[in-house]
Amino acid sequence: MSTPSIKLNDGNKMPQVGFGLWKVDNATCADQVYEAIKVGYRLFDGACDYGNEVESGQGIARAIKEGIVKREDLFITSKLWNSFHDAEQVEPITRKQLADWGIDYFDLYLIHFPVAIKYVAPEVRYPPGWYVDDAGTKIEYSKASLESTWKAIEQLKKKGLAKSVGISNYTGALLLDLFTYAEITPAVLQIEHHPYFTQENLVKLAKERGIAITAYSSFGPSSFIECDMKVAADTQQLLSHSLITGIAEKHGKTAAQVLLRWSTQRGLAVIPKSNHPKRLAQNLDVVNFDLGDDEIQKISDLNINLKFNVPTNYGIPCYIFA
Ligand SMILES: NC(=O)c1ccc[n+]([C@@H]2O[C@H](COP(=O)([O-])OP(=O)(O)OC[C@H]3O[C@@H](n4cnc5c(N)ncnc54)[C@H](OP(=O)(O)O)[C@@H]3O)[C@@H](O)[C@H]2O)c1
Repeated sequence: MSTPSIKLNDGNKMPQVGFGLWKVDNATCADQVYEAIKVGYRLFDGACDYGNEVESGQGIARAIKEGIVKREDLFITSKLWNSFHDAEQVEPITRKQLADWGIDYFDLYLIHFPVAIKYVAPEVRYPPGWYVDDAGTKIEYSKASLESTWKAIEQLKKKGLAKSVGISNYTGALLLDLFTYAEITPAVLQIEHHPYFTQENLVKLAKERGIAITAYSSFGPSSFIECDMKVAADTQQLLSHSLITGIAEKHGKTAAQVLLRWSTQRGLAVIPKSNHPKRLAQNLDVVNFDLGDDEIQKISDLNINLKFNVPTNYGIPCYIFA
């Protein structure tokens, strides 16, 4: 099954549906990536912080070796972790991540979060996580500004280490600030986006500036239940919400497919994660039916500005979304 692509502002093309690699177990990751390629996935959304870049690369290498795909058929995304924002750390860590994947360029490389924390050498702890100490008690900030980090990211594109570059978890204010200093406009903004958190104005701002949006955590609370997050457990699940299941039944689709179609029909890319092969196939099949305008509006009306992916919701005292 093939999916349509979104044309990015730098001329590159990004598949509209991909496979998200957060919380994909190391033990099964290589097989899952390999199977996902067989099912038809071409975009893989990874990150240093997910701790599975080596295994993801193994899955890709196997598929390439068996002639199922070529490197240029794939779209591989990774992200700069917070501990590597100091300008002089950006290229070395990108090169390490490329080596972990076993590739020589990323299709897209994003600043993961708009916060610079103190450098931890990969030999000391990798991925480093949020804390400076092994015990996980202390967050220390770096003095790197987002401007200096973005300028280092621009160099990655100029050197061909990343074909496209972008940001994640930026707010409107941070984007407007970025426009004052960026020589290269980000190609992609990756944000939490689901019916409880529709971020209409941020989507509008990005669209106005020609920045494509990738939605993460499209199923809302489901992903965060896996992380034992209380607010996610206390919230009505979108996958079993009567509005969503009712629309799904009408179209002969699953609730997951309706949630993903709601995003793709609004022009966003999606990167659902699943550890189950059947769901993987289902999640890719989310562009071949159409929701009615009234259905899209009703789903959008579920918005309650509820963001789950906030450090403090995991007990991490880092107030970037304060
Ligand atoms: N930039 C960032 O800061 C950021 C943050 C979060 C996520 N992301 C990216 O976005 C990707 C997706 O987000 P996410 O992992 O948070 O969550 P998600 O894709 O919204 O949801 C994943 C959850 O939904 C379940 N699920 C998947 N497909 C399903 C289906 N068809 N039917 C029923 N349940 C289904 C999964 O369970 P099973 O695995 O058991 O199927 C899992 O519990 C991540 O993997 C990551 O690549 C980026």
